[in-house]
Amino acid sequence: MSVNTRVKALTPPDIQAMKSDTPIVCLTAYTTPVARMIDEHTDLVLVGDSVGMVMHGMPNTLGVSMDMMVMHGKAVRRGLQRPLLVMDMPFGSYEQSPEQAFENAARFMKETECGAVKLEGGQEMAETIRFLCNRGIPVMAHVGLTPQAVNVFGGYKTQGKGNDEARIIDDAIAVQEAGAFSVVCEKMPDPLARKITKKLEIPTIGIGASVYCDGQILVIDDMLGMFTDFKPKFVKRFADLGTKVNEMAAEYANEVRNRKFPAPEHVYDYAGEE
Ligand code: KIV
Repeated sequence: MSVNTRVKALTPPDIQAMKSDTPIVCLTAYTTPVARMIDEHTDLVLVGDSVGMVMHGMPNTLGVSMDMMVMHGKAVRRGLQRPLLVMDMPFGSYEQSPEQAFENAARFMKETECGAVKLEGGQEMAETIRFLCNRGIPVMAHVGLTPQAVNVFGGYKTQGKGNDEARIIDDAIAVQEAGAFSVVCEKMPDPLARKITKKLEIPTIGIGASVYCDGQILVIDDMLGMFTDFKPKFVKRFADLGTKVNEMAAEYANEVRNRKFPAPEHVYDYAGEE
């Protein structure tokens, strides 16, 4: 008889229950090893469409495809035990109709065994969110700066300043009423994020928003200093691994060019082998 030691994964209701209780720790991941490294410290892991920029060198997230997301989702699934796995719906995979969104979200659920999907948008996506939730697909919403609309915004600009505040609040209320179990609030003034957090019954997950959101999310490559094309002001780099990798590559190149690598102590002695 085998003993089942598998850790029970958190579910969307578990995440929802953390509101106003325990700050929710969220990170993105795109590969199995990184998923394994962050598993015990996170409550929710998002395979974000940021993968296009941080792992594939794309200029923005618009070129990310369902196939790319599925491949990274499967990889992350292999490395995760406890956190809720959320798959980000890429640009063009859900906006056309609730039916299109269902087809692609269902593919994510079947092929990556994720526990939920995330999509960008507020009031305009409420019907789609309701459609998915009523058909067994938990949805995390995303309001404020929605990077897939970068061309509409004219850049990655702070949202919800001045007259725009009411629109973002209405967006957050609309996605909650449609059934979303949580909502990412990206790049908005601190007082607005606090207001939304207070108003909503579902958890708000901040990124460049407010310390008073119910949780925080960060792109892992930003956190590690591995993505260096640009750095939003709200990003805290907990390490500078990009520079480290560059330095180590230089050290290795120097050793190879000067015939110092492999060093004698690292060379396997084949003498005597058949
Ligand atoms: O794609 C992503 O990584 C995201 C997070 C920044 C919330 O949407």
